[in-house]
Amino acid sequence: MNTLFDKFNLSENTAVITGGGTGLGREMALALSRAGAYVIIAGRRQNPLKEVADIIIHEGGKCLPVQTDVTDSSEVNRLLDLSIKKFRKVDVLVNNAGIVAGQGGKPIWEISDSEWRNVIDANLTGSFYCARAISQHMIERGSGKIINVSSGFGLRGGRDNYMYASSKGGVIQLTRALATSLGRYGVTSNCLVPGIFRTEGTIKSQEQLPRAEFVPVGRLGIPNEIGPIVVFLASQASNYMNGSLFSVDGGALAGGYAPTDHKPFKELSENILLT
Ligand SMILES: NC(=O)c1ccc[n+]([C@@H]2O[C@H](COP(=O)([O-])OP(=O)(O)OC[C@H]3O[C@@H](n4cnc5c(N)ncnc54)[C@H](OP(=O)(O)O)[C@@H]3O)[C@@H](O)[C@H]2O)c1
Repeated sequence: MNTLFDKFNLSENTAVITGGGTGLGREMALALSRAGAYVIIAGRRQNPLKEVADIIIHEGGKCLPVQTDVTDSSEVNRLLDLSIKKFRKVDVLVNNAGIVAGQGGKPIWEISDSEWRNVIDANLTGSFYCARAISQHMIERGSGKIINVSSGFGLRGGRDNYMYASSKGGVIQLTRALATSLGRYGVTSNCLVPGIFRTEGTIKSQEQLPRAEFVPVGRLGIPNEIGPIVVFLASQASNYMNGSLFSVDGGALAGGYAPTDHKPFKELSENILLT
């Protein structure tokens, strides 16, 4: 039987998810596995990876946890080589690993070289390394799906948010460059733009999680709400989507408002009222 929903079926597909041990990456790995894919999850810490692998294996899926630092290209090459060796192919790459940062970082003059590189390398260079490592394999097979993960900060500014906003803007442009270059070989690239989800990363990166007052649906995202769109972008159902951005944010970007933490300048407001 060939139903519409068969197009979403990922059996016999292999997906690599970086940062697959926690937060959004964990939910992506679980969703891809539940859609039938074999999953390889990568991250620096072994314990969270093992926990996710145990769940997947307990549910009857196949999962290979591989300790990897995406900022090290030799570790990234090893991750993709191992994945191909174990499952013979990689159909889907999800570049999700990253260091999360909200507003209210440091003033630009206090940011050190290593602080800048740390976030740019984890969020942007890591995605480049992974895409580079798998691109020829996907081209040779004539198919592949690359799913990058940006942020609303990749599309707008944030107060004292330099590395994160720059890296996530770069991820969008990396997606477009990949889409334009690899599309002709049957390899598509798209980009997720998550809103605010309660994860280890957002809790660590903010003194308190941002409130939902700027989210039109009136609440923060629940991590497992990211699963279905990743399955869609990994599946044949999205074959004609390439170079696109997919926001999953309760309408936050559509509303156009973002908290800046700035109080309006009183004098200026009064002057404006007088003219
Ligand atoms: N949650 C949100 O509201 C939100 C909003 C917009 C975008 N995002 C994006 O969504 C992605 C996932 O974030 P999250 O919220 O789920 O946060 P998270 O739970 O902190 O997840 C980040 C993951 O990336 C991994 N990671 C970080 N640096 C790495 C490195 N150098 N090498 C390998 N793995 C690395 C971490 O594992 P290890 O520490 O074990 O390496 C962790 O599993 C990030 O790209 C983030 O920017 C999240």
